[in-house]
Amino acid sequence: QMQGYQMPKDFLWGGAVAAHQLEGAWQAGGKGISIADVMTGGDKNQARVVTETVEPGKIYPNHWGIDFYHQYPQDIKLFAEMGLNCFRTSIAWTRIFPNGDEEEPNEAGLQFYEDLFAQCLRNGIQPVVTLSHFEMPYHLVKAYGGWQNRQLITFFERFARVCFERFHHQVKYWMTFNEINNQTNWRDPHHLLQNSGLILADDENWEEAMFQAAHNEFVASARAVQVAHEIDDQLQVGAMVAMCPIYPLTSKPADVLKAQRAMQTRYYYGDVQALGQYPQWLLKYWQRHDYKIEISEADRQTLRAGTVDYIGFSYYMSFATQAGGEQELFFDEARDLVDNPHLEKTDWGWQIDPVGLRYGMNWMNDRWHKPQFIVENGFGAYDQLTADGQVHDPYRIDYFHDHILQMEKAVVEDGVELIGYTPWGHIDLISASTGEMKKRYGMIYVDQDDHGNGSLKRIRKDSFYWYQKVIASRGADL
Ligand code: BG6
Repeated sequence: QMQGYQMPKDFLWGGAVAAHQLEGAWQAGGKGISIADVMTGGDKNQARVVTETVEPGKIYPNHWGIDFYHQYPQDIKLFAEMGLNCFRTSIAWTRIFPNGDEEEPNEAGLQFYEDLFAQCLRNGIQPVVTLSHFEMPYHLVKAYGGWQNRQLITFFERFARVCFERFHHQVKYWMTFNEINNQTNWRDPHHLLQNSGLILADDENWEEAMFQAAHNEFVASARAVQVAHEIDDQLQVGAMVAMCPIYPLTSKPADVLKAQRAMQTRYYYGDVQALGQYPQWLLKYWQRHDYKIEISEADRQTLRAGTVDYIGFSYYMSFATQAGGEQELFFDEARDLVDNPHLEKTDWGWQIDPVGLRYGMNWMNDRWHKPQFIVENGFGAYDQLTADGQVHDPYRIDYFHDHILQMEKAVVEDGVELIGYTPWGHIDLISASTGEMKKRYGMIYVDQDDHGNGSLKRIRKDSFYWYQKVIASRGADL
């Protein structure tokens, strides 16, 4: 196998998680109910269901996570043993503002994160924090209609300010909204709820609602950037987009044009957050469809003044598309993606494409001209615990080998400025899309099944030792 390039000394090597997927303790310390708390467990054939309230007898995997809330002191030590110098997690909004609309924060929640971050720093690990990672207060969905409602801008700004004020000595790198562009697929109710807290009726225009909700998130995000810089000019606040490059299936000009529109559609979110304005093609699209998105002059100014400091992004896979002969140039993500015959897939149907990572990094660099931070990348797979208590996961090592190599080429050969790399779910946790435990990403195995049964014991997989070696060599020994 090929050797890698060595990354700079200050490069951040880490792991990434989100509060609702591993903390558990869903009611501890005065925590409120988040949208993740009302999602049942599913699997790749059965979508997660959102219930009106928490219903007895149903399975809600995020209620237990992997009990990180209680076990983090030992877990952080294990991360340090692996060699991590950073750790990306999120702050559960409902631990700080249980309903989302309170005036005063919940001290027990703030204290929990202060202790967690202190434990990281004691172990030489810098925390990297997402403010909103698929876990907004459910009350904001029920009582306000989610992000379609402008009042959420005020609530989010308050939440962000409280976090920056309390943690700015402990946390330098922040992100506002996780994978804000997943809602490109607005036909999927799961994405509308996870990104924007939208639960819509059949007769509403889902696409228009999505554009309005996303706009309010952009304004909230831009306000958060400004507030962070007021509080501490050392703080760095990033966007967070899911980078799945969309290729044309063939070299037919119509397919290439379609793929270009697909990229414009999926990444206009980054345009607004990095460049501070909406692209022309989208304004034209709204006009043609008579979409009335409420955008004030003050909003426009806020967007310009609150552009992000860096681009955080996840990378798992690439997509492909093909022109369908329609009159209007238009990309509908639920309808217009096709299989790429050159790529293999994971057991969950995600196309594996290491080269797409380098392609995506170059594409974003040319477009947004900001430092980047790979805050998720990884391979969800079924793992086997052997009789002698080990997990051999060569498939995961291969995946990481190939992706890290492409990342290093983008940095060393192409000159992309990259802050760090935090593979997703370096410790097994609850899957966001399916609620499964058995879709595992970790280099650390957690003994628990989809129903929450198991000893919760942490076991080092083969990939644990492999990544340890990669970090020790600063990426040279792959
Ligand atoms: C990203 C999310 O979509 O990918 C994570 O930011 C998520 O929250 C990860 O867990 C992997 O997806 P999944 O659905 O396999 O858990």
